[in-house]
Amino acid sequence: MKHLIDPMDLTKEETDEIISLAEDIIAHRERYQGSMSHRKLATLFYEPSTRTRLSFTSAMMELGGSVLGFSDAKNSSVSKGETVQDTVRVVGCFAEVIAMRHYIEGAQLYASEVSPVPIINAGDGSHSHPTQTLTDLLTIKRELGHIDGITIGFCGDLRFGRTVHSLIKALSRYKDVRVILIAPDSLKLPDYIKHDVCDKSGVQYREVETMEEVMPELDVLYMTRVQKERFLDEEEFDRVKDSFVLDARRMALGKKNMAVLHPLPRVNEILTEVDSDPRAAYFRQVENGKFVREALIVKLHEWKDDPAHPMPEHDRPVFDSSVRCTNPKCICNNEHAPHKFHYTDGGQLRCWYCDSKVR
Ligand code: CP
Repeated sequence: MKHLIDPMDLTKEETDEIISLAEDIIAHRERYQGSMSHRKLATLFYEPSTRTRLSFTSAMMELGGSVLGFSDAKNSSVSKGETVQDTVRVVGCFAEVIAMRHYIEGAQLYASEVSPVPIINAGDGSHSHPTQTLTDLLTIKRELGHIDGITIGFCGDLRFGRTVHSLIKALSRYKDVRVILIAPDSLKLPDYIKHDVCDKSGVQYREVETMEEVMPELDVLYMTRVQKERFLDEEEFDRVKDSFVLDARRMALGKKNMAVLHPLPRVNEILTEVDSDPRAAYFRQVENGKFVREALIVKLHEWKDDPAHPMPEHDRPVFDSSVRCTNPKCICNNEHAPHKFHYTDGGQLRCWYCDSKVR
């Protein structure tokens, strides 16, 4: 059965198929109305959301299907201690597909091991957010006309930003993509993305500390929030906070056809004076999110029992009782998930569920 837990669960061809279908839905909305009638999507949200949950809901309604679920796990039997695996076993009796957001990393992967229906990861902690990635790819394609050959600057929190990690993974499969990483020291991209994703796939990347020095090169500027609580040192936050704010002055340094993306919500990292600039694509990006989720629901339904669309062969899990995942936000430290691991190409041992480095 095809689940979507990580952007790499889709082949490049499957990713492009979903993006093309989303474009067709945009062009011919009437053709798809009713294509999911009598089918149900469950949205299980253990963490707050506006865009992701409501765009899934809107997408399923546009397709003629129905939606059930919870937006706050406190109102479900989770509050009595029900596990994610038991929850999806139960909800899988009521719905044909489940979109789940969880603050625990690896929760959806663990749930997918027993789920009777496809699981879509709607964000797990700081780990992964594959439907945001599909949204971002569709937005880049619609704004620029292509994804191959782009230079994209990621600005802000590149350490904890799950949307950044997922998008870099997905972009690594397109041709001649250049990545520029604009972040303060404490929020730099984790090494495993640089080495296991960029180096392995030949994506060129470089790290800088100011937007000004790279703005004229960018086809896409991908902004994210810099949160004060992510800094160990408050003085460092005060020193760098204004360097990662996009304003009209910095926009003036960019190309005429640059696209500014942001997964949203924003706090103050893009001033509202930028919103009226035609290059500000972040509200168009939100709308693309609904269309790409429609396409994903249709495709997962089509691929569910099709042997031509399997889950990818993950490396065989390694069980080693001498080590444990030390990430307190990992599923294996919160439920009875086994401590199991996988080796990266670089020979590192990483947690099976949350990808934290173990050895
Ligand atoms: N972009 C995104 O995931 O937004 P929400 O947290 O509102 O779903």
